[in-house]
Amino acid sequence: MSNGQYQHDVLIIGSGASGLSLALQLAEHTNVAVLSKAALIESATFYAQGGVSAVLDSYDSVESHVEDTLRAGAGLCKPEIVRFVVEHGHESIQWLIDIGVNFTRNPQDEQKYHLHQEGGHSHRRIIHAADSTGKEIENTLESRARTHPNIQLFEFHTAVDLITAKKAELTGDQCLGAYVYDQINDLVKVFKAKFTVLATGGAGKVYLYTSNPDICTGDGIAIAWRAGCRIANMEFIQFHPTCLYHPEAKSFLISEALRGEGAKLLLPDGQAFMQKHDPRGELAPRDIVARAIDHEMKRLGSDCVYLDISHRSKDFIIEHFPTIYAQCLQYGFDLTKQAIPVVPAAHYTCGGVMINKHGQTDLPGLYAIGEVTCSGLHGANRMASNSLLECIVFAHTAYKDIRAHLDDIDMPPALPEWDESQVTDSDEEVVVSHNWDEIRRFMWDYVGIVRTSKRLQRAQNRIQLLQAEISEYYANFRLTNNLIELRNLSLVAAIIIDSALLRKESRGLHYTLEYPISDVPAPGNDTVLSIGQGRYANTDMQLTSVK
Ligand code: FAD
Ligand code: SIN
Repeated sequence: MSNGQYQHDVLIIGSGASGLSLALQLAEHTNVAVLSKAALIESATFYAQGGVSAVLDSYDSVESHVEDTLRAGAGLCKPEIVRFVVEHGHESIQWLIDIGVNFTRNPQDEQKYHLHQEGGHSHRRIIHAADSTGKEIENTLESRARTHPNIQLFEFHTAVDLITAKKAELTGDQCLGAYVYDQINDLVKVFKAKFTVLATGGAGKVYLYTSNPDICTGDGIAIAWRAGCRIANMEFIQFHPTCLYHPEAKSFLISEALRGEGAKLLLPDGQAFMQKHDPRGELAPRDIVARAIDHEMKRLGSDCVYLDISHRSKDFIIEHFPTIYAQCLQYGFDLTKQAIPVVPAAHYTCGGVMINKHGQTDLPGLYAIGEVTCSGLHGANRMASNSLLECIVFAHTAYKDIRAHLDDIDMPPALPEWDESQVTDSDEEVVVSHNWDEIRRFMWDYVGIVRTSKRLQRAQNRIQLLQAEISEYYANFRLTNNLIELRNLSLVAAIIIDSALLRKESRGLHYTLEYPISDVPAPGNDTVLSIGQGRYANTDMQLTSVK
């Protein structure tokens, strides 16, 4: 703390797999602040089920993992990044084991780990902790981070915007820290740092139905955008094919690993249908399976399809999928005896803040790692269980780069305080909740699994009106956590819609009826947007001004 402002060598925004992995490595050499806008473990990481992909079996190979990832990514992956990540798979898993992550052993050979298979993978290569891998990883990271003397944790602290040299009216072009809203004390604090890292996860909450927890509002993408960073490939929103269909289940995920162990997708009359959509059947990549389900549901006018693993023994199901079994039972479905109703839901943000191999963004001093990024690994469709791998690999590469430059940078001077002199308390909180609901609903209806230009245009009209309303609201009223999230959510929705309108073809997760084929040459055909472009050309001051 200096002059009432917090100061750390590194400020990490986010406490999921990427943020905490980076914090633990950096903390061996320097002091680190980690922000989390909810309780520390509340993250997409915590809910991950299937596991982490890596080449861990002598029958498997780096070549095969690379090839599968490239194929799932439908021509848009950066091959050198795919190879880089896959080649670092084994050591990343070893790092997790070394810090205490307890992966499930192979019951036939306790010296080895049990490996799952998921869509798009041509081998069993998903290491897991039963069906709650994320919980095991996040709990392990948390217990290490809580006791590390060089890590200061700030829970219920929401980053609002970055402080750049330009914004602080200093010379240079550098990220100097962030304005952070302390939810408990209802005030905005200044955090200064030599390096700032966005590890804020994805944006699933832009959609009405999502497997994501509430924290996934795309904050890091919006924050980076407002600081002038390029955002790429946001039209590629992944819909997970199988979430439990039940009014109270909040799109609870049914892991793809069930299909890896033989579960079949069925129509309401009990007929299997995946073979007619793809020769890989239930283990085709996610974009194909989700689209097939969407097609069958629309064709039959049905609310859901069904997933059936009841042909496997009860012991097998309970041993491999204890969490999913218990959760389904709570909603009245017995996995061991019956097919369960499932529907697709928004699951993963393939695009994001553009980074290089070291996790550097366009803004000097700002790094980004994990789901918030577009690293080039996923292309137009992420392959199952490659995300946690990406988090660990990029946490390590960013750690190495930051460490190498720690002594080259001075701590920023005192920075301008947050100015609240022009705002008052809101008298109409309902505007925030209403706009929030409206965005999520029309994104689901108009910017979903199957798109048309007409529906996208309709969504663009709606989001432009809402953005104007939200900007005005933001300029006049004191911050709340909901308002911060709504402002970010609306910006991310706008970027998704604009990116989708720009892509005049179907590829990977972006499927549009007017342009059903992938005919634009790839790779390198990314949809890159930044603040100075198109209809955003004049919005930067309005959106980024420090009040
Ligand atoms: P997260 O784990 O989402 O963490 C984000 C952090 O940022 C949180 O701490 C949050 O509080 C913080 N944050 C966000 N905004 C702010 C802000 N403004 N200020 C302060 N803090 C902020 N992937 C796999 O590879 N394998 C799987 O088996 C798998 N299963 C999944 C199952 C589910 C149900 C879901 C939702 C995802 C799954 N995924 C899986 C995807 C994977 O879990 C995520 O992509 C990954 O965990 C993202 O990690 P992260 O560190 O980037 O972000
Ligand atoms: C799952 O277990 O199906 C989720 C895996 C993932 O999102 O990578």
